[in-house]
Amino acid sequence: MEKYYYIQTFGCQMNVHDSQKIAALLEGAGYKATGQASKADLIILNTCSIREKAAQKVYSQLGRFKDHKIQNPHLIIGVGGCLAQQWGEKFFKKVPYLNIVFGTHTIQNLPELIKNVKNSPSRHIADTAFRSRGRLVEGNSSLLVLGKTSAYVTIMQGCNNFCAYCVVPYLRGPEESRELIDIVKEVENLAAQGVKEITLLGQNVNSYGQTLPIKTDFALLLRSLSTVEGIERIRFTTSHPKDLSPELIRCFAEVDTLCEHIHLPVQSGSDEVLRKMNRRYTKEDYLQKVAALRAACPDISITSDVIVGFPGETDADFEETIDLLEKIRFDNLFSFKYSEREVTAAVKFDHKVSERIKNVRLKFLQLLQEQHTLDKNRAMLGKVLEVLVENRSKGSAGEVMGRSRTNKIVNFTGGSELIGKTLPVFITHAYQHSLHGELQQERGREKCS
Ligand code: SAH
Ligand code: SF4
Ligand code: F3S
Repeated sequence: MEKYYYIQTFGCQMNVHDSQKIAALLEGAGYKATGQASKADLIILNTCSIREKAAQKVYSQLGRFKDHKIQNPHLIIGVGGCLAQQWGEKFFKKVPYLNIVFGTHTIQNLPELIKNVKNSPSRHIADTAFRSRGRLVEGNSSLLVLGKTSAYVTIMQGCNNFCAYCVVPYLRGPEESRELIDIVKEVENLAAQGVKEITLLGQNVNSYGQTLPIKTDFALLLRSLSTVEGIERIRFTTSHPKDLSPELIRCFAEVDTLCEHIHLPVQSGSDEVLRKMNRRYTKEDYLQKVAALRAACPDISITSDVIVGFPGETDADFEETIDLLEKIRFDNLFSFKYSEREVTAAVKFDHKVSERIKNVRLKFLQLLQEQHTLDKNRAMLGKVLEVLVENRSKGSAGEVMGRSRTNKIVNFTGGSELIGKTLPVFITHAYQHSLHGELQQERGREKCS
């Protein structure tokens, strides 16, 4: 009899990639994917704990799956990812009908855990140990990319930065980089299967290589990957401003396949808040790095993250953030209200900001950013952008969607035969979240000179 799995992912791109690995493992164990949880023999939630809201979403989804469990007592429900790592065994106390808890380092044990839980009298198994140090090995990625033009590649795991608000170092463990040669081989493999675009993943890719026995760095990795034939586009996420080196900035001018986009989370424009956050740069440092990026690559698109209402943030601190936004004019911004997370240093900080003030600040900042984003999108009108087509457009029939090298979503008329192609598109309309255009016959590029 066929066995079906249903998987749902919360959180960041790292979790999305982990879910791809989980899916590959489950397929290897004889399971087939289903989009309907009610049909599944196995439900996996890959969870996130970055903010309280992210955790709440997981709990309410688990609540909805309780009915499925009542109807099908053989159903196995497992949770992985950061919230699972956080709670371990204790997750069973919160959600007794849960069967498996696996952590951020134990994904590869999942098939074994599924087997064992069936024979376990309690029907509960938790496995959230961190791996011991040693060469960081990734599974075979071939199953993950079948028929895809774009793929994620993990280059490192964990984080050593301990920003005062953040749970990631506790839940993903210490920073560890993969060997450069292993990454190059994986990318060659992906290119051989038709992948054209890769996104390199790490909590702070700019410090890539620091944990390796042979010293290397992120700029060198980018230059090595640029020689892989067939890879047209290289992206990466995320960058910590303190580690953004002049060598990496130079790559934006010199590495042809490196896309003209950087996600560079700033978090705040106030030096005092940045110091308390343990970010280890100032507003001026950040402004200078952005100036250097724009000097190297005038068309670069820059996106960022901001937290409002960090403990002790005054009106004057918030105004510094607004001033930074005005000075930089980001292409896009993800903004969050500070959310207190257990175990982080900021739990003990005084002068917590009220929910009301956080709401006011968030709204103000978002309205300002909306204007900047729209202005940036409007600046694309009349230009020809190189678009890698990803899919059919969701809303409109007869259209496809893709991304420019600057990571802007572009829709235009065309059929599914265009998926996977890199095409020049003349931009005719600019909206808040996307651009619209027409296919140009002549091929054009937006690479900076
Ligand atoms: N490693 C990445 C960020 C990962 S978390 C980096 O350093 O850039 C993604 C974003 O979530 C962060 O940039 C931050 O803006 C936000 N974030 C993290 N912890 C938070 C918290 N406790 N409350 C609110 N936002 C938070
Ligand atoms: Fe969290 Fe800071 Fe590490 Fe990013 S760099 S994952 S924000 S601790
Ligand atoms: Fe969430 Fe963990 Fe990513 S907490 S943001 S899934 S690293």
